[in-house]
Amino acid sequence: MAINQKLHDRMEELRRRSAEAEAGGGPERREREHKSGKLTARERIALLLDEGSFEELDKFVRHHCTDFGMEEQRPAGDGFVTGFGRMEGRLVYVFAQDFTVFGGSLSEANASKICKIMDLAMRVGAPVIGLNDSGGARIQEGVMSLAGYADIFLRNTLSSGVIPQISAIMGPCAGGAVYSPAITDFIFMTRDTSYMFVTGPDVIKTVTHEEVTKHDLGGAMTHNATSGVAHFVARDDAECLAMIRELVSFLPPNNLEDPPRRPCSDPWDRAEASLDKLVPADPMQPYDIKDAIHAVVDENYFFEVQEHFAQNIVVGFARLDGRPVGVVANQPAILAGCLDINASIKGARFVRFCDAFNLPLITFEDVPGFLPGTQQEFGGIIKHGAKLLFAFAEATVPKITVITRKAYGGAYCVMASKHIRTDANYAWPTAEIAVMGPEGAVNIVYKRELERAPEADRQRLRQEKITEFRERFANPYVAAERGYIDAVIEPSQTRAKLITALRALETKRDTNPKKKHGNIPL
Ligand code: HXC
Repeated sequence: MAINQKLHDRMEELRRRSAEAEAGGGPERREREHKSGKLTARERIALLLDEGSFEELDKFVRHHCTDFGMEEQRPAGDGFVTGFGRMEGRLVYVFAQDFTVFGGSLSEANASKICKIMDLAMRVGAPVIGLNDSGGARIQEGVMSLAGYADIFLRNTLSSGVIPQISAIMGPCAGGAVYSPAITDFIFMTRDTSYMFVTGPDVIKTVTHEEVTKHDLGGAMTHNATSGVAHFVARDDAECLAMIRELVSFLPPNNLEDPPRRPCSDPWDRAEASLDKLVPADPMQPYDIKDAIHAVVDENYFFEVQEHFAQNIVVGFARLDGRPVGVVANQPAILAGCLDINASIKGARFVRFCDAFNLPLITFEDVPGFLPGTQQEFGGIIKHGAKLLFAFAEATVPKITVITRKAYGGAYCVMASKHIRTDANYAWPTAEIAVMGPEGAVNIVYKRELERAPEADRQRLRQEKITEFRERFANPYVAAERGYIDAVIEPSQTRAKLITALRALETKRDTNPKKKHGNIPL
């Protein structure tokens, strides 16, 4: 009886301690979070993972700070919830910061909790998902919290390209709380409740006298549409967590494994008649490349990444024959599909992610070239455009390109051309592969002849030369004659062609020369 009573008391103590840890910063602060439209750290983890799969670690870790009266407040767990669980049965490691405990700030103790799960994730090869809601380094702990951040940054860096790292910004995140996400692969933000900044509005006002709201400075749309720091925006916490699950469904657990395949009921050889009519007769007319992507992929489902940033290039995930792929496409409906600085950076980062994690690259190309102008040149389009070229060239995953219309100049080389090791290069009959468009070419090649022509004849002569140039060069057959294009295909057959090529490339093995790492133009 005595032993049982002792056991009973111990069990009671465990439950009491557990409940204390789960209470976080208390009911008032929790209520404040709920009122502002946010869930708590534990509620978020419950929604993120398969039901009942979460295994918490380090629930009883407490901080050791004795300054600023901190010894009086030592909540169990220290404001971070960490552990592992399952998504569609697949293992993931997760941490969530609890804003109700010291504003989710990072201490020496809770940094070590994050480092522990990051180390475990690397050891077993599983993704890490961080739900961030934090005021950054815990001010009361000084350099100890900075050291904790540096420990996390190091692990973020070493894990990069080995395991997928995904960050959600689900509250006001400042300082170190934004730098760790910045090293990870994807950043999600909630629309009205999340902010990211290195220094907040008050500091900015003091230093530069600029007045800016939290929302304008670091709100979800600022980072999704303007800065390009974030990749996804969600309506609220629940949608954000569902979107993370969706993203993970496309990814392998680590760089040594292939992405998970799904059974596919969409016929592999489904012809899509709408594609035969997609490209307008007038080469200056825009069309939406997303219509082509949706038409071709399994169940017409495309999970777009960075939908609101640099919309002249479209990137995202889809499946072909049940197999996850990364799609990169010029968007003729925005800036005529030109490559500019932002589009190059967006495309390059996505290509490198796909290459690191064994996702074949499907490229749709309709690009009149790099965007001209002083703004672009002064901003370093040479360096940034080179990023995209570098990324496509170094990628060793299966690469397949479809030129739908324009493939002009340097942009032809950049967009996964045959010359940079693309495995299958297709062109629709509407493709125009040339150094530049007929108008520009005629202005340069026939400049003297046009100048010498009588004014009355000049326009007619110019038009004749443009037509001649278009007929002779603005087609896919000059490239096809050289083998730069493997086949000119009917647009309606694109899905079957892509899947046939993907199947043939399933055993592809290619490597780059042995080196410490390349020196991508950053
Ligand atoms: C300790 C913090 C804290 C922090 C917030 N809190 N940030 N405690 N360290 N860094 C506490 C508050 O004292 C408060 O406690 C509670 O969290 C909620 O904070 P509020 O200010 O009331 O909330 P809100 O108005 O929503 O503002 C959130 C905020 C703001 C924008 C994050 O708190 C803020 O600006 N915090 C400081 C951000 C910052 O400068 N961090 C240091 C960055 S340096 P009570 O008890 O009242 O609930 C850094 C270095 C890393 O991170 C190096 C990177 C390279």
